[in-house]
Amino acid sequence: MGWNAALRTVILAVIGNSFMRRLAERYGMKLGANRFVAAEALEETIAKVRKLNASGFLVTLDYLGESVKDPELAKEAAATIGHVIDAIRLERLNANVSVKLTQLGLSIDPVLCVELMRQLCRQAKASNNFVRIDMEDSKVTQLTIDVFKQLLAEFDTKTVGLVIQSYLYRSDTDVDDLGLLGANLRIVKGAYHESVQVVFPRKTDVDRNYLKLAKSHLSNGCYTAIATHDRAIIADLKEFADGMKISKLRYEFQMLYGVAEQLQQELVEEGYRVRIYTPFGKQWYPYFTRRIAERPANMWFVLRQLFVK
Ligand code: FDA
Repeated sequence: MGWNAALRTVILAVIGNSFMRRLAERYGMKLGANRFVAAEALEETIAKVRKLNASGFLVTLDYLGESVKDPELAKEAAATIGHVIDAIRLERLNANVSVKLTQLGLSIDPVLCVELMRQLCRQAKASNNFVRIDMEDSKVTQLTIDVFKQLLAEFDTKTVGLVIQSYLYRSDTDVDDLGLLGANLRIVKGAYHESVQVVFPRKTDVDRNYLKLAKSHLSNGCYTAIATHDRAIIADLKEFADGMKISKLRYEFQMLYGVAEQLQQELVEEGYRVRIYTPFGKQWYPYFTRRIAERPANMWFVLRQLFVK
């Protein structure tokens, strides 16, 4: 295991600890989560989306929540996401939604999860919107892909899309397979703590695989969301798309709310489509821990929030 991966394991262990969770509950968003999370309430989030849209950014809204163990909570989450799709239409926002299937009960009742997703896709299609299925840890990769394929067969690539992680060995085959279906894919590096049985342990391999997957999907003529803050990868893919004469309408860059804002701005100014992944809601702790683990320097940022004024 490399130094980076080891540090990430330690950070995930520390922040996954119940003491840290209680601390987070006590200090709430003051812990620094408001750097990465738009707001707890939808109304406040809408105001932020409006600002992002006015600055030329597209948005994907993520109602925070995952690993739901109670079917009633899964239904409640789906109802809120449905409400978000309505709000996007009524408020004329330039935004779509991103959804985690375990928030809709994937791990407890896949049939219920598919039914809830079906309702959301129906609603999105009726309002000309789009639902992106986020990819979670490797325990649910195959199930997530199966659900996506089922929905794609019932809807279309303009209504539902998926995320693929370049740290997984299997993703090469998945991108080829999903490319045959013309799937709209967001390519990311991967944010979960995984064993070396399933992921490349070295970051250089994850980065190399990222370029391979993104180029393959772009070359297959499929819509590709290039979701990274990695300047070298972005520069390489811009050059690749130019060289292949791929229209700027066939792909977009995506970045996380509060991360690499200078780079977000530069890309918009260069005329690229840039979508900001904008999470909101009260269940921000797991999302926040992944953002901290991605960049150990963020740990100092949290400590500063706690102890400086
Ligand atoms: P990398 O980690 O190499 O970072 C490149 C540079 O970006 C760093 O040097 C730093 O400057 C900056 N940076 C990256 N992360 C930062 C942070 N947290 N704070 C401050 N600076 C940071 N993952 C997943 O498993 N499933 C999913 O569905 C998604 N969805 C998703 C959507 C979108 C729009 C994005 C951008 C990312 C995801 N991810 C994800 C997360 C992804 O897997 C990955 O963990 C992060 O994007 C960080 O990796 P980078 O590609 O930015 O590269």
